[in-house]
Amino acid sequence: MHLPSRVQLVEVGPRDGLQNEKQLISAATKIELVHRLQSAGLQEIEVTSYVSPKWVPQMADNAQVMCGITRKPGVRYSVLTPNLQGFEAALLSKPDEIVVFGAASEAFSQKNINCSIAESIERFAPVVAAARAAGIAVRGAMSCTVGCPYEGDIAPQQVGMLAARMKAIGVQRVDVADTIGVGTPLKVQRAIEATLAHFDVDHISGHFHDTYGQALVNTYAALELGVWNFQSSIAGLGGCPYAMGATGNVATEDVVYMLHGMGIATGIDMDRLIDAGVFISDALGRKPNARAATALLNKRHAP
Ligand code: HMG
Ligand code: MG
Repeated sequence: MHLPSRVQLVEVGPRDGLQNEKQLISAATKIELVHRLQSAGLQEIEVTSYVSPKWVPQMADNAQVMCGITRKPGVRYSVLTPNLQGFEAALLSKPDEIVVFGAASEAFSQKNINCSIAESIERFAPVVAAARAAGIAVRGAMSCTVGCPYEGDIAPQQVGMLAARMKAIGVQRVDVADTIGVGTPLKVQRAIEATLAHFDVDHISGHFHDTYGQALVNTYAALELGVWNFQSSIAGLGGCPYAMGATGNVATEDVVYMLHGMGIATGIDMDRLIDAGVFISDALGRKPNARAATALLNKRHAP
């Protein structure tokens, strides 16, 4: 088995994490979180989304947050854009990468972005073309690649079909997402293999929610296939407003602990990462939902 020697993490806490919080988090707190994440060594940060504020009120301060960040050279700042309206608004705050987000499940596509899979691809096509013409990188998130809250199990063929459509409109890399965290290692590997028919391994990212406690082992299963880009959320924040009961992404602290323990480099400073998790958890009035953070904080405070 040949595991990657280096992994690049995309920190999605400010977007996937905070989009799901009931209490309003100020733009200043979000900006400070991004600053702490970049000083911990994260090189890719998904900052916010340009979606309807009626659908996702937590992201209504998108422009304020994007414009308030002091950018660190070498860090890639990405934002979600579901349509041209979102892309045009996003353009003003100069993201390095935009993310179009579709689903391998028809029902989830309808609930999340109010259109069918085929319609979503038609909407994404001009967004992708405009982004690439403006020199902005394009990622495609593929939701429900193993299971859907409305349709149950999703066949790998559905994932392959979506990946092919994303590729055809010029998406450069894709996220294989387990939106509701129901996946187990072999199912996740089947979804990745279906994607590998259309994107090479350097252009695939794993995005695993941890609802059933499988996200870390699913990350390992993806590493076994050579995937070296993963999305994770500081302090395990998050979920999806259109996937009831789904919890946050795998916690960044837990993934980093596992990777460093396996001798896989991430460029991330664990102490600073934990401080970033404590910062946002304090703002939310709770403890970080990350086992490695809890353990290391206990050790820090031990007499
Ligand atoms: P729609 O209602 O079909 O859109 O929503 P519309 O074009 O008919 O427009 C209706 C209204 O929305 C209009 O306003 C538009 O101006 C406005 P009104 O005239 O009623 O005042 N509107 C917008 N406003 C701001 N930004 C925009 C925008 N577009 C239209 N871009 C839409 C379609 C996609 C906008 C809507 O369904 C939406 O915003 N959905 C939110 C989806 C979302 O953010 N989901 C969570 C992120 S995805 C996720 O978490 C999964 C992921 O993590 C991977 C995984 O885990 O699976 C990525
Ligand atoms: Mg997600």
